[in-house]
Amino acid sequence: MQVKKTGCRLEVNGEVAECLVSPMTTLCEALRYELRLTGTKQGCDKGDCGACTVLIDGAPHLACLTLALTAQGRSIQTVEGLARGAEAHPLQDAFDRFGAAQCGFCTPGILMSAAALLEANPAPTRAEIQEALGGNLCRCTGYTKILDAIEDAARALDRRREAAAAALS
Ligand code: FES
Ligand code: FES
Repeated sequence: MQVKKTGCRLEVNGEVAECLVSPMTTLCEALRYELRLTGTKQGCDKGDCGACTVLIDGAPHLACLTLALTAQGRSIQTVEGLARGAEAHPLQDAFDRFGAAQCGFCTPGILMSAAALLEANPAPTRAEIQEALGGNLCRCTGYTKILDAIEDAARALDRRREAAAAALS
């Protein structure tokens, strides 16, 4: 039996996009296969790996456990929305410089978890970073470079805030 598809209106990275989904289509599937935003990874597809992490209204969510239709009317941010135009987000820049991505499959999810953490807590301790990444698995890096990169990004964001404040004074 063919499942009837319905229209789904999603706000992703500040833009409204429409697609057709079934009631059981996950947000991960809608992002990747309907909207072609393939930065969000489909790993375990059952809530274990964190590769599909996106932000919904600023908080990390597993897109593989979120039905696309339930994400309507909420603000979704994916890894494609992290950079400011051609300027990489400090997290992306730090991951590059610290070699914190190897195969890169976990990286988008980790970036999104880290972005939410730094938004809520601009100067997290190492333990707080580890806790925030508790749902994100990485098979390649051993995590040390990831933690180093996130600490570096926190410092870079702090410098950016200081420069913005100085420009206003
Ligand atoms: S793909 Fe969603 S948690 Fe693994
Ligand atoms: S870089 Fe390969 S899984 Fe993390």
